[in-house]
Amino acid sequence: MSILILGGAGFVGRYYTEYFLKKGKNVEIVDNLAPLSGGIHPRKWKVFNPNKFKKKFKFSKLDCRKFFKKKLNKNYELVINLAAIVGGREVIEYNPLAVAEDLEIDTAFWRWVVKNKSKIRHIITYSSSAAYPINLQKKGRYRLLKESDIDFSKNYMGKPDLSYGWAKLNNEYLASLAYEKYGIKNTIFRPFTGYGSDQDLNYPFPSIIKRALSHRGNKKFIVWGSGYQMRDFIHIKDVIRGSLLIAKKVKNGKAVNLSSGKFLSFINLSKKILNILGKRNIQVRGNSTKPEGVFARGGSRSLQIKYKFFPKISIENGINDAIDFLKKNS
Ligand SMILES: NC(=O)c1ccc[n+]([C@@H]2O[C@H](COP(=O)([O-])OP(=O)(O)OC[C@H]3O[C@@H](n4cnc5c(N)ncnc54)[C@H](O)[C@@H]3O)[C@@H](O)[C@H]2O)c1
Repeated sequence: MSILILGGAGFVGRYYTEYFLKKGKNVEIVDNLAPLSGGIHPRKWKVFNPNKFKKKFKFSKLDCRKFFKKKLNKNYELVINLAAIVGGREVIEYNPLAVAEDLEIDTAFWRWVVKNKSKIRHIITYSSSAAYPINLQKKGRYRLLKESDIDFSKNYMGKPDLSYGWAKLNNEYLASLAYEKYGIKNTIFRPFTGYGSDQDLNYPFPSIIKRALSHRGNKKFIVWGSGYQMRDFIHIKDVIRGSLLIAKKVKNGKAVNLSSGKFLSFINLSKKILNILGKRNIQVRGNSTKPEGVFARGGSRSLQIKYKFFPKISIENGINDAIDFLKKNS
């Protein structure tokens, strides 16, 4: 049986593909390499070459909504839905209707799943920490976000982060209906700030490292927003490992965080990177003309600990890997 990854040519999908091909599984990707997304044709992947696995790997350059028009004619042990327009903070903030395409993709996905449920053993789909109420992420009144902060059984729910967060809430709600009404086994994840070496440069982690590498002298180093905004960084390989561990235990359409449980500001992240590069005594400042998003977004680890998932890769090791990668590949 094979594994099907929708949106598998993107950042997260590339790491699932590597993981499963190395385990000897057959992997099929359906991805249209959408503009504004981090999708890369498998011929050009830099961290891992899936084409070495020949017949075990298949890539179809196709919009998944076209793929959903046909009934499945084979069985899949796992379908992972990653297809989405994300594009980083600037796209989320300034192009909200492009991001709203995710509402269409996920709705089409769940309808297709219902029609083909006998052919699919298990589903993993991605929500995001952006689904959490933004009023729990404000300066002076933030805290780690718990899975129960989103509760579809309540009469009122908090407002998520722009159309991206709304789309992710929609995906979660449909996932819970798929389980309750149709018995479709699925696991849904809310990753916080996943990062890694070959991430699209529209994301802060690789773009700050790239700029730090070329930073010269004692000039100020500038980051987006006030620079005091904080995120919870988790390495992409921990995201993959954690999701597969938890998916063995949670199959009832409930969402689980993937997080480190630690807040790190953009200023402190930049200082760590500059220090590792031996570039010390550089002032790091915000640039208020660029969006900063919510003030503090971090994820509680209680449920992940219950499922015995512990991230292994420290931010320092993640930075070192990305420095090596970006030095070789720029
Ligand atoms: N990377 C993170 O830290 C993070 C955090 C939270 C949530 N997520 C979620 O994880 C999923 C994957 O994110 P990513 O970082 O890999 O993003 P990405 O932009 O790198 O990958 C998304 C992929 O989806 C593809 N795609 C878009 N529309 C499609 C369509 N109609 N048909 C087929 N493919 C389509 C794109 O071409 C791209 O390859 C998304 O749902 C995202 O919201 C990621």
